[in-house]
Amino acid sequence: MGRLAAPPNMPCVPGQSLPNPAPLPGPVPPGDGFDHLDLGWLAGRPGVKWSSTPAGTIAAWVADMDFPAPAPVRRSLAKLADEGDLGYSAAAQLLEEPWAKRMVSRFGWEPKAGLLRPFSDVVQAVQVLLHAGTRPGDGIIVLTPSYPPFVSSVREMGRRLLSLPFTFGPQGWELDLEAARALAPAARAILLVNPHNPTGRVLRRAELELLADLAERYDLLVVSDEIHADLVLADIDHIPFASLSEEAARRTVTLYSASKSFNLGGMRCAVAHMGHGATRAQMATLPSHLFGEVGLAAVTAALAAWSDETDPWLRRCVARLRDNATELGSWLRSSEVGGRVLGARPEATYLAWLDFRPALGLDDPAGWLSRHAHVRLSAGPEFGPGGAGFARLNFATAPNVLAELLGRLSAALAGAGAVQPAPVAG
Ligand SMILES: Cc1ncc(COP(=O)(O)O)c(C=O)c1O
Repeated sequence: MGRLAAPPNMPCVPGQSLPNPAPLPGPVPPGDGFDHLDLGWLAGRPGVKWSSTPAGTIAAWVADMDFPAPAPVRRSLAKLADEGDLGYSAAAQLLEEPWAKRMVSRFGWEPKAGLLRPFSDVVQAVQVLLHAGTRPGDGIIVLTPSYPPFVSSVREMGRRLLSLPFTFGPQGWELDLEAARALAPAARAILLVNPHNPTGRVLRRAELELLADLAERYDLLVVSDEIHADLVLADIDHIPFASLSEEAARRTVTLYSASKSFNLGGMRCAVAHMGHGATRAQMATLPSHLFGEVGLAAVTAALAAWSDETDPWLRRCVARLRDNATELGSWLRSSEVGGRVLGARPEATYLAWLDFRPALGLDDPAGWLSRHAHVRLSAGPEFGPGGAGFARLNFATAPNVLAELLGRLSAALAGAGAVQPAPVAG
């Protein structure tokens, strides 16, 4: 019999046999983990979400789900390794048809053929598009609070961040359309994220049409990140920006990936549908290998994710996220402070944007909650304008973990009288 591998936290002494460890949990929990996940099993996961979170703390920060990737994806990767052809891949040709089919069947949008460009990830695509489609000093409209790498990309590339804010109203998070009208004349591009991270809002047709009108009037490039499009939880349709009209399609680059919907963040494969001719032409002048290539394993995983075989997994996943959002919604209502609720039940994604200003009055409540509740959330200030006092919660986990996590937050907030509130902007 072969020697046993050392279980976590047990030193392996060369030449010495180990005592029989307790059986380790298998790689995939029963029912794909949608109904129950063991905290010990999660803590042993190698990905960044859990491995870089202190022992005893629940990881609810980076946008990875706690559910293992779907079986058809895992099988396709095992088959690739078994068959042994790990040569170069023709990523664009392989991805275009399945992706286009998906856009038609799920969103009723028939994208123009021949315009798909693979990237390793959506942030890389955004940086390439800003590089090719705008110049240093140009104004970029960004929906804020914003997925942090977009705030840093705009700043690091010397563009001006024009903050188009979501504000909290009786209907939840509302996009400030007056601000959009005021910003558009000073802008060169709109970096749209729909469905939106971190508010979980799904933009309605009227909101998208207003942005499309502004884009046309002021000749703006629209980069539309629709990576969360499969994860709409409310009874609302996701509308691809490029599907609004021929004119909208001509000025839009649509970004999409299997990484959020199928939990494949580490695989590195995204696609950009390059509807905007001038940006396409500018990219064609750049050295062909400057932006790298997508690997065969990443393409294999994306193709398996976009096959019909994963539909049942995605349906169960969305059902779990919807139930979790409902659970979170009632917790939010019960956790109000002085008549102010912490946030709204998200319409999409598995992320919730929580306002801890009334409860804690701290600039970075995530740091405090990590220490006092032993729950790791994403730090609000990293999300740019409107982030101070907030934290983002990732609820893509099993109900037992969510219940434990919300219980810990409640207990810590109940004891928050010990905190000396500091003034918070906004
Ligand atoms: C709105 C949004 N865009 C882009 C990304 C990056 O995704 P990827 O690294 O899979 O391209 C994320 C990840 O959380 C996201 O939420």
